[in-house]
Amino acid sequence: MGTIQLSCIQIAIGLLFLTQAKSTKEETSAHRNYTITSCISDERSALVTFRAGLSDTANRLSSWKGGDCCQWKGVHCSNITGRVIRLDLHGPGCHNSIVQVLGGNISSSLLGLQHLQYLDLSCNRFELQIPEFLGSLYNLKYIDLSNSYFVGRVPPQLGNLSNLRYFSLDSTLGDTYSRDITWLSRLTSLQHLDMTFVNLSTIAHWLPVVNMLPFLKILRLGYCDLTSSPDSLQFSNLTSLEILDLPANDFLKRSTPNWFWGLTRLKYLDISASGLHGPFPDEIGNMTSMVRLDLSSNDLVGMVPTSMKNLCNLEELFLFENNINGCIAEFFQRLPSCSWNKLQTLDLPFTNLTGSLPTTPVPLSNLTILDLSCNKLTGPLPLWIGELTKLKSLYLGSNNLDGVIHEGHLSRLDMLDVLTLSDNSIAIVVSPAWVPAFNLTTLELRSCQLGAKFPMWLRWQRQLYSLDISNTSISDMLPDWFWVSTSSVFYINIRDNKIRGVLPSTMEFMRGIAMDFSSNQITGPIPKLPTNLSNLDISRNNLVGPLPLDFGASGLQTLVLFDNCISGNIPYSLFKLQSLSLLDISGNNLTGSVPDCLDNESTTNTTSLSIRNLSLRNNHLSGEFPSFLQSCNLLIFLDLSNNHFFGTLPTWIGQKLTSLAFLRLRSNMFYGHIPVELMKISNLQYLDLAYNNITGSIPTSIVNFKGMILMGDDDAGYEEAFGHGLAIGDNELVDYSESTHKGSREIIYRRNHILW
Ligand SMILES: *[C@@H]1O[C@H](CO)[C@@H](O)[C@H](O)[C@H]1NC(C)=O
Ligand SMILES: *[C@@H]1O[C@H](CO)[C@@H](O)[C@H](O)[C@H]1NC(C)=O
Ligand SMILES: *[C@@H]1O[C@H](CO)[C@@H](O)[C@H](O)[C@H]1NC(C)=O
Ligand SMILES: *[C@@H]1O[C@H](CO)[C@@H](O)[C@H](O)[C@H]1NC(C)=O
Ligand SMILES: *[C@@H]1O[C@H](CO)[C@@H](O)[C@H](O)[C@H]1NC(C)=O
Ligand SMILES: *[C@@H]1O[C@H](CO)[C@@H](O)[C@H](O)[C@H]1NC(C)=O
Ligand SMILES: *[C@@H]1O[C@H](CO)[C@@H](O)[C@H](O)[C@H]1NC(C)=O
Ligand SMILES: *[C@@H]1O[C@H](CO)[C@@H](O)[C@H](O)[C@H]1NC(C)=O
Ligand SMILES: *[C@@H]1O[C@H](CO)[C@@H](O)[C@H](O)[C@H]1NC(C)=O
Ligand SMILES: *[C@@H]1O[C@H](CO)[C@@H](O)[C@H](O)[C@H]1NC(C)=O
Ligand SMILES: *[C@@H]1O[C@H](CO)[C@@H](O)[C@H](O)[C@H]1NC(C)=O
Ligand SMILES: *[C@@H]1O[C@H](CO)[C@@H](O)[C@H](O)[C@H]1NC(C)=O
Repeated sequence: MGTIQLSCIQIAIGLLFLTQAKSTKEETSAHRNYTITSCISDERSALVTFRAGLSDTANRLSSWKGGDCCQWKGVHCSNITGRVIRLDLHGPGCHNSIVQVLGGNISSSLLGLQHLQYLDLSCNRFELQIPEFLGSLYNLKYIDLSNSYFVGRVPPQLGNLSNLRYFSLDSTLGDTYSRDITWLSRLTSLQHLDMTFVNLSTIAHWLPVVNMLPFLKILRLGYCDLTSSPDSLQFSNLTSLEILDLPANDFLKRSTPNWFWGLTRLKYLDISASGLHGPFPDEIGNMTSMVRLDLSSNDLVGMVPTSMKNLCNLEELFLFENNINGCIAEFFQRLPSCSWNKLQTLDLPFTNLTGSLPTTPVPLSNLTILDLSCNKLTGPLPLWIGELTKLKSLYLGSNNLDGVIHEGHLSRLDMLDVLTLSDNSIAIVVSPAWVPAFNLTTLELRSCQLGAKFPMWLRWQRQLYSLDISNTSISDMLPDWFWVSTSSVFYINIRDNKIRGVLPSTMEFMRGIAMDFSSNQITGPIPKLPTNLSNLDISRNNLVGPLPLDFGASGLQTLVLFDNCISGNIPYSLFKLQSLSLLDISGNNLTGSVPDCLDNESTTNTTSLSIRNLSLRNNHLSGEFPSFLQSCNLLIFLDLSNNHFFGTLPTWIGQKLTSLAFLRLRSNMFYGHIPVELMKISNLQYLDLAYNNITGSIPTSIVNFKGMILMGDDDAGYEEAFGHGLAIGDNELVDYSESTHKGSREIIYRRNHILW
């Protein structure tokens, strides 16, 4: 979140600069009447040579032809002299387009453009050191080298650019460092300095250098691994500084004294995640120009100071992940009442706020984001929250709030976009006819009380992309409109309710990526799934019919369908799911033998399957040990127990399934010896062969495994083994890989015919 906001500010400032530059130029030419000459031929050849060194796969510089280089894209010449004064080759966007970036070499032919005032190479991909010769373009006032994957040392030659006003070297995309920044002190005209993500970890005395720049308005040194923050700055030159960005450094010191509290003209201060501890300092109250204050993710302790009341310009306050550990009512009292109508963001999750929200209204008439999630708030949500009509995001999840929320709390919140109330004891009671004014994109009500009737107002939420109404006491039929209203939702979670109904006859029209319908009473067959679906859990329902012959979702990664009444054979279509990593179809009524994808190479790719966790337990499957498993080299967890598999254990288990940690074959009809090859699997921690017809002796190599627990023909041991939480059908999705023991090994061989 922080980075996005930062870059928005940067863009805004960039635009400001451009507008200023443009208007001065227009004024100049309005007085005079020069005709634009085509570009100077030496400069043209400099540009041609420069271009020849670049790689430009997207042909962004296709307009660089013809005699008049002043007409080329990104090249701007002076109206007066015809000289190239601007070169703007910034990429089309740092984060959304890799294809259109420039790369290759930056030719020193650029030195032919001695009148250049403005150079923007940002958002490209050079993967080079910053060329030293750039320090000889003495007329530069503006240089932006940000996010272009520059690497290595920042050349001190840049200190020769004494006319520079704007300098950005933001290396968020890149990897640069400097071990000596004294050269910076020569850039005395600098107004904007951005060295975000430039590694400055070895520089102790960075502040005196920066203090030589008396015109600095904007200073960004976030993520620089700075380690020192002096207590004070006796003769501060930084009187023009408005924006100070120092997040994610390693100051590791008390919050006060600190030099930056003396910068009372600051409008924006970000000192988040910088290892500050101690109290929220009183000095905050001196910073009366403050518009945006970010002290989040430090170890500040206690209530904010009463001096906060002076911050009459405050619009955004970020304090998350600090230990305020006090009453929310008192906190609201200390917010500056003179800025109540200006405050837009209050970001306070993980601050140990306690008590109930005040019952007397706090008229934060401009508030758009209120995040109080993950605190210890109690009591009901007061009605005045419903008067915050500018609210876009309301996060209250993971508190101990209770009481009832009704239309009165919500009906005036037209702008609301995100509502999260999960993990509270809140009941939402609205009339079935209520049509909300808002169009939410995110709605999270996990473990609130919505039921027993299905919430009809969801019908009108057609712009959702994330919906969580799990464990909300709904005991009702799934309405038909549900599938239409949620057709564009990416994440749907309705688990742990008593929702009845059937899945639609096809789900192809849905945009879902992850869907969790588990632990409900959904019946009927499994339809063709949403094309982009990657995770599906419909375990613990009443699904019937066979597995689909065409799943539709070719990128499916997890498919969890245990404890239903799915019948029929296992279809080939499962092997077409090349990305499938977790498949649990245990506890169904599947019959027949597991097909061998090797038999049907035209429809399946037999070279490899991605499967890591496979459970077929508690079905009526038969046939020999499934031979398709030979293409499952990543398999970690395999459970075939309680079926009718028979035959001998193949020797290839030891050769092909080398990652196997958990193998349960209990209660089948396997016979023959334990193959010695099985013991080559060094990762194997759990082996359960009980209730088969295995003969022979246990290979001595098993017995020698360090930490292996051997369980004899003794039913008490059964409970013991399952007491470790290994019963796969009882596990949550994420627990599969963890359900193998770390460090100890077990073998269970009960009721076989094994001799020692
Ligand atoms: C020259 O000045 C005119 C009039 O202000 C303006 O429209 C034009 O864009 C300028 N050309 C360049 C190359 O700056
Ligand atoms: C100014 O420019 C205009 C348009 O290019 C031209 O017609 C006019 O003669 C010029 N005036 C002078 C004094 O050069
Ligand atoms: C950049 O320069 C290096 C070394 O001079 C050369 O090997 C490479 O081909 C050049 N790259 C481009 C895109 O011209
Ligand atoms: C540019 O800066 C470097 C390093 O700071 C210095 O050694 C060099 O003399 C300067 N070059 C010129 C031409 O001023
Ligand atoms: C303030 O900046 C000027 C110009 O760079 C410099 O000469 C002076 O030494 C600076 N003052 C301090 C206290 O660093
Ligand atoms: C800043 O605040 C502190 C403590 O509240 C106070 O002692 C000090 O005089 C203030 N400094 C300025 C410059 O206002
Ligand atoms: C909240 O308080 C608990 C102890 O009561 C503490 O362990 C935890 O770190 C505090 N949270 C924060 C964000 O400081
Ligand atoms: C309220 O916020 C908007 C931006 O959302 C801003 O333009 C407006 O000036 C703010 N109102 C006040 C009184 O600060
Ligand atoms: C919500 O969406 C509906 C349908 O798209 C639209 O008619 C209505 O104006 C939207 N409401 C708001 C507050 O944006
Ligand atoms: C399992 O399937 C068989 C037929 O294949 C059927 O007779 C039986 O009733 C099914 N059992 C359940 C629990 O659905
Ligand atoms: C089969 O899968 C492998 C590895 O995932 C892949 O390289 C190959 O192109 C696939 N072949 C076919 C026919 O899909
Ligand atoms: C167990 O195996 C033995 C010999 O391999 C065979 O005679 C016997 O019938 C098998 N018992 C069962 C229950 O399959």
